[in-house]
Amino acid sequence: MCFHTTWCTGKPTMAMMTLAYVSEARPGLSLKDLKQILRRARENNYRRGVSGYLVFDGLCFAQILEAEAGVIEALMPVIEADDRHQRLRLLLRESIGERHFAETCMGCANLAAPVHLDTSELRGLIRDVTGSRQLCLPEALEFFRLFATFRTPEQAALLTL
Ligand SMILES: Cc1cc2nc3c(=O)[nH]c(=O)nc-3n(C[C@H](O)[C@H](O)[C@H](O)COP(=O)(O)O)c2cc1C
Repeated sequence: MCFHTTWCTGKPTMAMMTLAYVSEARPGLSLKDLKQILRRARENNYRRGVSGYLVFDGLCFAQILEAEAGVIEALMPVIEADDRHQRLRLLLRESIGERHFAETCMGCANLAAPVHLDTSELRGLIRDVTGSRQLCLPEALEFFRLFATFRTPEQAALLTL
């Protein structure tokens, strides 16, 4: 799906915002749970004009969201209250002039997928940011792009739901 055309109609854009967080997945969260989260997220985000990227490493989530500020403000408490994760910690909250993940209503990398590919380095990355300070926008973009771009199409097919 591509929303670029609907989002680039030439109409003046509302104030855009991006927000990123890390959280701990509910113990025992299954692939089925992850798929349900992603399916609902993609449906809702498509309707609401939310783009972004979600990473799951088997224990933790990291997610970046971008949308009109009001949409993010309304969505975030819903996500935070979701009992499929806990201990959510904000990494980034900033106004943006343009989207950086415009091609997806929620891309996803599942690093816990059973693949013949060493994802340990990528998995360690989430631990690195979990206990650290907040990130500035370039740092956050670099972090999420690492997951979104490090892969060949074959690897992407395995890692992505
Ligand atoms: C890690 C995580 C990420 C989520 N991301 C989104 C999201 O991007 N968009 C969304 O609408 N819901 C997201 N959800 C699901 C929401 O918490 C909530 O279940 C959902 O928005 C409810 O949608 P509904 O009112 O249509 O049933 C996420 C949940 C989790 C645990």
